[in-house]
Amino acid sequence: MARSDPSQFNPRIVTPASNALWQDYLRARYRNLYLVYNLPPTCTASELDHPRIRPGVHQRAVVIDGPDGEPICVAGGRLDLQPDRPEGPTAQLRYFWVEANCRKLGYGRLVLQHLEDQCRRSALRHIWMEARVEAVEFYKRCGYTDVGPGPTKWDVIPHRIMEKTLP
Ligand SMILES: CC(C)(COP(=O)(O)OP(=O)(O)OC[C@H]1O[C@@H](n2cnc3c(N)ncnc32)[C@H](O)[C@@H]1OP(=O)(O)O)[C@@H](O)C(=O)NCCC(=O)NCCS
Repeated sequence: MARSDPSQFNPRIVTPASNALWQDYLRARYRNLYLVYNLPPTCTASELDHPRIRPGVHQRAVVIDGPDGEPICVAGGRLDLQPDRPEGPTAQLRYFWVEANCRKLGYGRLVLQHLEDQCRRSALRHIWMEARVEAVEFYKRCGYTDVGPGPTKWDVIPHRIMEKTLP
């Protein structure tokens, strides 16, 4: 399927609330963030995913129309609001990914800008994340600053700490 014109797939940002979409979202999250490193599904487990809709945690997916019109997750991310963080009120971007055959089409920026708007609506003006080294240039393109080294997770995925004060 040619993906040169993303608009033909009717991309939209949704909360993956239904059982079917939630499972698709979790499978795609695992596939794109952990399976690529041959890490087990337990790496994607997070207590803040349960219940899947909860205050202060924003789960978002970009879905497109599949061959039979069914929604397919092609990107996703989670924003955890942290208004009481000792360093100052902020939100943490987590589990951010775009399906491998849908990258460089603008989906990453689309969902990130949506989450930034969500952050503003929650009266927060700062976002930070532990960014995979391979994603640092993407985040820089989106206005984030590399502020130093982060952890190397599961001994194989080095991270940088990045942040942005929202305009
Ligand atoms: C990082 C990732 C989310 C980017 O998503 P994407 O949909 O490809 O990004 P976009 O198409 O919205 O790109 C936005 C801009 O960043 C640039 N960009 C995207 N990926 C880039 C990369 N790897 N290196 C350099 N620039 C990149 C694009 O060229 C575009 O530039 P522009 O300002 O000229 O338009 C995606 O590559 C991905 O899922 N990677 C694997 C998982 C991962 O690392 N997730 C992040 C965990 S912290």
